[in-house]
Amino acid sequence: MSKSKETIDVTRLDEPLVQVDNLVVSFGTHEVLNGVSFSIARGQTLAVIGESGCGKTVLLKSLIGLIQPAAGSVKLSGADIATISSATLAELRTRTGFVFQQAALFDSLTVRENIAFPLSFNEPSDQSIEERCDQLLIELGLDPSISDCYPGELSGGMRKRVGMARALMMRPELLLYDEPTTGLDPIVSDVINELILRTRINHFVTSIIVTHDMKTVRKTADRVLMLLPASQLNKGENQIIFDGPPSELDRTSDMRVQQFVRGDAGDRIAALVSDNSFTDGEWK
Ligand SMILES: Nc1ncnc2c1ncn2[C@@H]1O[C@H](COP(=O)(O)OP(=O)(O)OP(=O)(O)O)[C@@H](O)[C@H]1O
Ligand SMILES: [Mg+2]
Repeated sequence: MSKSKETIDVTRLDEPLVQVDNLVVSFGTHEVLNGVSFSIARGQTLAVIGESGCGKTVLLKSLIGLIQPAAGSVKLSGADIATISSATLAELRTRTGFVFQQAALFDSLTVRENIAFPLSFNEPSDQSIEERCDQLLIELGLDPSISDCYPGELSGGMRKRVGMARALMMRPELLLYDEPTTGLDPIVSDVINELILRTRINHFVTSIIVTHDMKTVRKTADRVLMLLPASQLNKGENQIIFDGPPSELDRTSDMRVQQFVRGDAGDRIAALVSDNSFTDGEWK
């Protein structure tokens, strides 16, 4: 039975904002998420790490119902997103901001139109749209004069920040970041990390940050999950091979976590090179 909008009690602050239970996601015979479970308390910043292709983006998309799981459940504010009405799901999505992997701005829309885009589907706020766009741009360290520019005229770092402004437009309680610093130089990456920290404080958001950037993890996260590709799991092993604060990453005895954190492929290089031209530590 679908749950009515009125039954979602967003004031239950003791309840996890996000609760994932035994989530299974497959594409054909390719199982990507193999029974993943975790929950996130309100106000927490969770980083999700793991090698390319392990299912981090799939996990984020599953949290807001953009991908349907084969089994398991996702609850947002206690509401199971598979059983609520589409209207209630749409309402929950307006309370979730998504900062996409490639910023995902519309090239044919100006910066202001991109930031205001979520309002096209929702009630306009009482504050003027233009004013709120400018306020968000300033907050994210951008000059409001770029409002009439098109994304193609912006640097990668500026595009990421415009993507953050768009995600914040609807005053979300949950922010999902997919690779917020990928492709940016170390200085601009640090600016983004700082903005993630400030956004948490200024907007009281709960955040999930999918990233490969260990500086982002150490600077912004309270807690880290590391996912292993389902294909690499030992029999009966949990796909989340690390769940703890960033400071514990250096103390774990799991070699797979250590290698990821150090960026050290170790003995996996030979396995990754299909023609076996890398042997005994040398290219032949
Ligand atoms: N819509 C889809 N259809 C089929 N397969 C998909 C789809 N979306 C994702 N996959 C597959 O699921 C796996 C996980 O993809 P995902 O994008 O979540 O990886 P990721 O951990 O985010 O990697 P990266 O760090 O490179 O972004 C990949 O093998 C990918 O090919
Ligand atoms: Mg991804």
